Amino acid sequence: MPPDASLDPLRPDLTLGVVGAGIMGRGIAQIAAQAGVKVLLYDARAEAAPAARAYVAGTFAKLVEKGKLGAEAAERAAGNVEIAEALPALSGCHLVIEAIVEDLMVKRELFAQLEAIVSEACILATNTSSLQVSSVACGCKHPERVAGYHFFNPVPLMKVVEVTDGIMTAPWVGDALAALARRMGHKPVRAKDTPGFIVNHAGRGYGTEALRIVSEGIADFYEIDRILREGAGFRMGPFELLDLTGLDVSHPVLESIYNQYYQEPRYRPTPVTGQRLTAGLIGRKVGRGFYRYEAGTQEKMPVAIVPSARPARVWVSRRGLGARLRELVAKLSAPLDSGAAPAADSLCLVAPLGHDTTIAALAEGLDPARTLAVDCLFPLEKRRTLMTTPVTLAPMRDAAHGLLASDGVPVSVIHDSPGFVAQRVIAHIVNIACDIAQQRIASAPDIDTAVALGLGYPMGPLAWGDALGPKKVLEILEALHVFYGDPRYRASPWLKRRALLGVSLSTAEA
Ligand code: NAI
Repeated sequence: MPPDASLDPLRPDLTLGVVGAGIMGRGIAQIAAQAGVKVLLYDARAEAAPAARAYVAGTFAKLVEKGKLGAEAAERAAGNVEIAEALPALSGCHLVIEAIVEDLMVKRELFAQLEAIVSEACILATNTSSLQVSSVACGCKHPERVAGYHFFNPVPLMKVVEVTDGIMTAPWVGDALAALARRMGHKPVRAKDTPGFIVNHAGRGYGTEALRIVSEGIADFYEIDRILREGAGFRMGPFELLDLTGLDVSHPVLESIYNQYYQEPRYRPTPVTGQRLTAGLIGRKVGRGFYRYEAGTQEKMPVAIVPSARPARVWVSRRGLGARLRELVAKLSAPLDSGAAPAADSLCLVAPLGHDTTIAALAEGLDPARTLAVDCLFPLEKRRTLMTTPVTLAPMRDAAHGLLASDGVPVSVIHDSPGFVAQRVIAHIVNIACDIAQQRIASAPDIDTAVALGLGYPMGPLAWGDALGPKKVLEILEALHVFYGDPRYRASPWLKRRALLGVSLSTAEA
């Protein structure tokens, strides 16, 4: 490698080779061509590259029709994509991105062939989503020019790309790829070469914790989806998401990240996905996953009938998030029991953080048969979560349900769970993101950008932790940890220190 190797990704004559003209390759070709980069497209199947070029030209034409692209610009962009009949045609490229089959040996073989063709200063980038960049690079004569360039599907719409340095990658390579991403209108995030990089690593929290909750019989899968969508603000519930991705894709990823991190308990899957995959309940694409699908439409799931019962009197705990609960109960005009201790017939409502109803009731000396908990950490306007103890009397449960739903807001009634559903799922997500920061896999702003753009969460996980309050997130995790005795819930040092210091979860060290 020449000592002064570098690449100006803004140069007007920049030439990019794209190997593999499938779903990802054509998307990368499209955004590059639109940014004025000359693209040479090669695929082992002779018909694939011309088909991809036609597809990209068709996309530009549609953008013109919609008024999103001028006719001249579209023509110029389409003209930037050329077909490479054979690999040696890529000899003059400044960089080559591979988006071929996800097979380590095939990728290594391709890079070995490319090294024999391109100049020593040419960057070789891999779009792999699950292989280690260093393992792709290690067969190369010049591993320092190899980096990860992980785009998301569909490339033109998913505006983020993970730029991953392998162990041997020279810093200028990632810098050039990041600058090129910006030229193409994408947001680059820098990641260390670790399993799942940022997005697929940070994404472990959502599905695995939801699966654990369902495995424990706390709530039905569709009720968990409703809580996380309407209560916590996710675009899709975790089970809807598993159905969309398909268990054939997500189950191996769940297992692979867990095992690549040497059975880190935070990523521990449950037997649910493997069993369902074996049974063929893969998801939307086969018409049945967790939900059934008829002509692409998800089946309607049962909705609990709202009881007409109301409590005679309601006593509200002052502990935890009791202040918010009091406001809600007052808004619902419930007859309040304002005694220091509840009267004999009062319904007792508590608003714990990280605790289940049983622990919260016993800690305050309340009768568990008359006690229910309400999750008050999240907005209460779209959906409310109401949690019983194993001995809550049905009339008390129904009266609490009737009261909480009396202004038309739907209520999910769940069994006892430390941290309800939303508290524990979001605390788990925030904790994993904190540990990604702790391991220096990526910077705090890049973690938030990658997750918000790559996973479409309402906000980045560190910003979310800040919005909820790092101390509250820590409290939830510590309660979960004590209750289950499972290291899955141990707080990341990153979270713990920042919560104790009272500073933002994005606080980097000097
Ligand atoms: P695809 O199957 O749509 O396209 C792959 C293309 O590569 C095919 O046209 C195939 O003919 C060609 N090909 C295979 N071996 C080749 C070789 N040795 N030389 C030249 N061409 C070859 O696959 P897709 O989905 O575009 O994925 C490509 C890469 O991108 C994989 O590494 C995948 O893991 C990664 N990726 C895929 C994402 C997705 O959602 N589809 C998201 C992010 C990364």
